[in-house]
Amino acid sequence: KKQATWGGRFSEGPADQMVRFSESVSFDQRLAPYDIQGSMAHARMLASVGLVSEEEAAAICSGLERIGEEIRSGNFTWDPAFEDVHMNIEQALTKAVPEAAKLHTARSRNDQVATDMRLFFMDAGEQLASVLKGLMRALLNQAEAVREIAIPGYTHLQRAQPVSMAHHLLAYMEMFSRDLERVQEFDKRARVCPLGSGAIAGTTLPIDREFVARELGFVDEQGNPQVTRNSMDAVADRDLFIEFAGVCSLVATHLSRVAEDIILWSSQEFGFVRLPDAYTTGSSLMPQKKNPDSLELIRGKSARIMGQLTTLLTLVKGLPLTYNRDLQEDKPPVFDCLDMTLDCLLVLEGTIAGMAVNPEPCKKAVSDPLLLATDLVDYLVLKGVPFRDAHHIVGALVGLSEKSACSLNDIPLDEAQKICPQIEADWTECFSVKKALSLRERPGMPGPQQIGVELKRWKTVLNS
Ligand code: ARG
Repeated sequence: KKQATWGGRFSEGPADQMVRFSESVSFDQRLAPYDIQGSMAHARMLASVGLVSEEEAAAICSGLERIGEEIRSGNFTWDPAFEDVHMNIEQALTKAVPEAAKLHTARSRNDQVATDMRLFFMDAGEQLASVLKGLMRALLNQAEAVREIAIPGYTHLQRAQPVSMAHHLLAYMEMFSRDLERVQEFDKRARVCPLGSGAIAGTTLPIDREFVARELGFVDEQGNPQVTRNSMDAVADRDLFIEFAGVCSLVATHLSRVAEDIILWSSQEFGFVRLPDAYTTGSSLMPQKKNPDSLELIRGKSARIMGQLTTLLTLVKGLPLTYNRDLQEDKPPVFDCLDMTLDCLLVLEGTIAGMAVNPEPCKKAVSDPLLLATDLVDYLVLKGVPFRDAHHIVGALVGLSEKSACSLNDIPLDEAQKICPQIEADWTECFSVKKALSLRERPGMPGPQQIGVELKRWKTVLNS
């Protein structure tokens, strides 16, 4: 059996079963680039304060660079006997560069892994932001393409009031732009360097924490190095992990709602859109089927992302300070969140970009005069009828139309006037969808000019 790196006080190595149980290198090898980056900064810092010589630091750094290259090209052998990514790299390095026996000076895997993960998070935030923007671009292009298309807006999945399809799609733009803000705020909190916290209580050695922070890009907006302020917090908490999973869960929630809406729109019952063949699948039995699998999988994977958030919350909530090995289980949920969220964003982008609108079914659905019952109430309000009375009157008109099987806008004027004398011949103008939308030109409303303003605003936002 191999002696572990920490094996000094042990008389025998771990059982095979324990090696298998304890290893994390099968998943945390993904942290290798950040681990190497962190180790190089640490080595340069050790040299700057005289704990190693400049030559030793240089030898360590070029050794780390070679190992990085080996890992990138797939020639590095990961060994579960060395537990994790940190030990695997250190072992290989020390074999090639004897000076590397000094690398772990004033450092613990506890502050090392916390640092690696923050570097990972900085990268992850950047990826999420760029892919989110890609989806937003696809949404914006579609919104632009369907500017003229009116559809019913729904509450309780019942027809409510007419909107434009652009307004519906731009609602998602708002949600995703808040997600983007959340990613940016998360990134700010990630940019604080834990290295120097040691295992729990820092170190007696004369290290320079700001040096490492600056080297690794842990700086605030003014470029000032940021270091964690409590060594116990730095190695014990995982709130950043939870926040990351939380941001991903919100993105996933939004993705899932878009997916659900488009699934409905693409059903024969709605028929508002046609999905691109490239993002749908067929049935093994029913030859006619074209199923919205991309969207259903987005809805499904969102459940998994939310599950990972719960995993992380549960993992941390009962732990005594500070580091406990439980925390090794913090990485798979985070990686899964990132991978799933990026995938879902990209697949939705492709699906939306390739989606085509069917104008006829939209027109048919939105020409339901009941969608304008509320506008008729407003018409009466302008004639001086108190709102509650107007609401009641239009309710009675809707009841009459249902009873007499005559659509609301076809009720004869004299019949309508029997219910409400304030109704005049111009009441039929209420039933123009075009007019209904053009009357809604205040901020936040679906009037065509407002939509024009919003489309322009989003274009500037996305290009900045
Ligand atoms: N692989 C470990 C983790 O991910 C690194 C920290 C190990 N620290 C320790 N005291 N065993 O949590």
